[in-house]
Amino acid sequence: MKKVIILGASDGLGKSIAGLCIDEKIEVINVSRTPSNVSGVINIACDLSKQEDIDNTVKAIKEKYNDFDAIINCAAIVAMEKINEISYSKFEKAFKINTIAPLYFLSSLFDNIVKNEADILNIGTTADLKAGFVDQLAYTSTKYGLRGGSYNLGLELSKTKSRMIYVHCGGMNTQMHEKDYGKKIEDPTEWMDTKDVAGIVFYLLRLPKQVEITEITISRKGRRLM
Ligand SMILES: NC(=O)c1ccc[n+]([C@@H]2O[C@H](COP(=O)([O-])OP(=O)(O)OC[C@H]3O[C@@H](n4cnc5c(N)ncnc54)[C@H](OP(=O)(O)O)[C@@H]3O)[C@@H](O)[C@H]2O)c1
Repeated sequence: MKKVIILGASDGLGKSIAGLCIDEKIEVINVSRTPSNVSGVINIACDLSKQEDIDNTVKAIKEKYNDFDAIINCAAIVAMEKINEISYSKFEKAFKINTIAPLYFLSSLFDNIVKNEADILNIGTTADLKAGFVDQLAYTSTKYGLRGGSYNLGLELSKTKSRMIYVHCGGMNTQMHEKDYGKKIEDPTEWMDTKDVAGIVFYLLRLPKQVEITEITISRKGRRLM
């Protein structure tokens, strides 16, 4: 891998993956609203809830960074309203960012992905296994959509050299829940470190090209879903 595009490398897991890539001399193009402060990362400002921003980002990638080897999608928001309190606008926003944006982005770059023999890695959640969690109807639904879209992309890529990897990721020590809901993590030692998950993502992408792990679950210890 020489060049990687990351959706959402300004924070959390994406930022840790970006750091790992830079350490390994891999060029990183970050796509998010705020720039990544990881030194050496190239930033493209993009609000993934806006089609125009996505189209401009795709255009910039085709013009300047077309020789990418992988696209890693870490961008998402949580949506954790109580079942009878979810607003239409929250449903819409969560679907736009978590589901439509990455799938539309990937389909817009599909021909380039195939030509480059590039891999795709989408970060899902353990909420998109079985029923998900209470108070997460919108979030669970968006990630099930991402999961379904990833299967379809995998099908489209099955006769190519590109791989589609889907990660059901459990709870990590990030500020994701705090940003929108003010929910602080009480005991960070019980949550996964993004650096450890980033290492697994990196391992998956660096497997020999004839090996394809299509789907993997990474859980916090003791939180496996039955
Ligand atoms: N944290 C957990 O416990 C947990 C558990 C299971 C699964 N996951 C999944 O893991 C992935 C990473 O989560 P995280 O905890 O690292 O989240 P995070 O720290 O909140 O980072 C989210 C990233 O998404 C970007 N993003 C959000 N809204 C955006 C928008 N409208 N346009 C462009 N970029 C946007 C953010 O960039 P800007 O704000 O700069 O735009 C940021 O770089 C997500 O897919 C999440 O669903 C997380």
